Amino acid sequence: MRLAALPVLLSMAALFVSCHNEKKKEPPVLNTIQLGQTTLSLTRVANHLNVPWDLQYDRKAHAILFSEIAGVIKRLDLNTYKVSPVARITDVYHQRTTGLLGMALYQPEQGPDYLFLSYTSKTGDRIYSNLLRYTYNNGKLEAPLRLLRIPGNTGHNGSRVLVAKDQKVYWATGDAASDSFAQDSTALNGKILRLNLDGSIPKDNPIPSSYVYAWGFRNMQGLTQSESGAIYTSEHGDAIEDEINLIRPLQNYGWPQIEGKHDTEKEIAIAKRSPRTEPVRSWTPVIAPAGLAWYGSDAIPEWKNSLLLTTLKSQSLRILHLSANGLQITDEAILFANYLGRLRSVLVLPDGTIYFCSSNRDWNPQKGFPKPTDDGIYRLQKTTDTTAPVLRPQKSPVLQEQSGKALYESYCASCHKTDGKGLLNTFPSLAGSRLVNGDANKLLQVLLHGAGGKASDGISYEASMPAFAFLKDEEIRVLTNYIRSSFGNAASHISLETVKNNR
Ligand code: HEC
Repeated sequence: MRLAALPVLLSMAALFVSCHNEKKKEPPVLNTIQLGQTTLSLTRVANHLNVPWDLQYDRKAHAILFSEIAGVIKRLDLNTYKVSPVARITDVYHQRTTGLLGMALYQPEQGPDYLFLSYTSKTGDRIYSNLLRYTYNNGKLEAPLRLLRIPGNTGHNGSRVLVAKDQKVYWATGDAASDSFAQDSTALNGKILRLNLDGSIPKDNPIPSSYVYAWGFRNMQGLTQSESGAIYTSEHGDAIEDEINLIRPLQNYGWPQIEGKHDTEKEIAIAKRSPRTEPVRSWTPVIAPAGLAWYGSDAIPEWKNSLLLTTLKSQSLRILHLSANGLQITDEAILFANYLGRLRSVLVLPDGTIYFCSSNRDWNPQKGFPKPTDDGIYRLQKTTDTTAPVLRPQKSPVLQEQSGKALYESYCASCHKTDGKGLLNTFPSLAGSRLVNGDANKLLQVLLHGAGGKASDGISYEASMPAFAFLKDEEIRVLTNYIRSSFGNAASHISLETVKNNR
């Protein structure tokens, strides 16, 4: 009897100790991320979640309030890392991408806290997108008020919610898979809508007595505002052209007549007839952009004035560095590619700490996912401890190609022409050139040091190829790879190392 009782007692004691420890112990650091001067730690702070869709910061409780797509709202205490249920929204309709989606927590200095929710519901065989306001009373949801109900569909329901600096509610609605809604200024789908906190139409909206603030959208998945007040969205294109847009009142972003930048004859003609706004950035092949958060903190100086973007298809966190005026993306770095799976939402706390969540239990898991611990909420913050395995951000290949083109246009096209074909007997064609497609070292010697009229196979040229040693190693690399993969050329990419060795 005594012997049998002992192990039970021991294991209970062990259980007690481990629970006790778990509450106090910081979760382990998975990786360190090395930026220029700053080292970040990556930590998973919550596990076993079911498709968290939106993360909001509850500053009064120092907690993250998050939605799960099936209709549950939970709270992650950032002191104890304990997750507790807040509410279940009973009329949420969840199938594939429909369900409980965006949220916005509004905590003013004075007056009650509000939680705005966007979710799909179904009545008979009709699907709707709903915008609701709850009073958020220290972790309890009270006094629901439906602000808007618009048509929904089995896909393309958006949607994110933002309470902006002007104390207005911005709701990014999907086009509900309709061909006509996005370009119909009287429909509320495929729009940025602007509402007062009580759901009424603001007197200063750009169209009198209308919620419509901007239009021509397909399916926005991210919405954020910068310190200076600029509102940005991320949006899923169709087969091509995912987008980041800078939202301005009354502007038309073109969908479904225009996809991405105005780069086909048809699109240019449409934009000429009536003004359309181009995205700040577009991606083909698509990456499936999702959550978006503007980063303005000094905590990570390398990322100050960037848009942080989580992506689903390309399974990464992207850091899109903005120009000082916020009109352009000047650099794009990629973190965690194919490492944590699909990433859905990202949140920046006032102190610059970043939280983001995976979406591996959704309708479209990638190979190797979900992991048993999925879905998770992760934290990125500054550290001095560098013992965990190091990860480095990668440069976006797409932006590299663009900057390769830009460099070529500014330094080479005057002689070798935009199409690389050169000018007969004067400037050699780079298309199909043996030198361009051959040994990287020989090519780099010509680029760096010029060729004195002797570069090309047996032909002598009057003019000579100038030396470009004044360009930086990285510029030479990007430029060389551009000419080796353009004009019908398909030679292997060369590394920065090879460029350095040829100096
Ligand atoms: C001022 C005109 C001029 C500019 C600008 C110029 N090139 Fe050239 N390039 C030439 C001439 C002329 C030749 C051939 C004569 C020679 O070998 O010096 C040549 C040769 C070449 C060759 C060798 C082609 C072959 O098949 O032998 C390559 C590669 C090349 N240039 C790349 C570039 C790149 C890349 C740039 C931009 C960074 C550039 N050039 C800018 C005039 C120019």
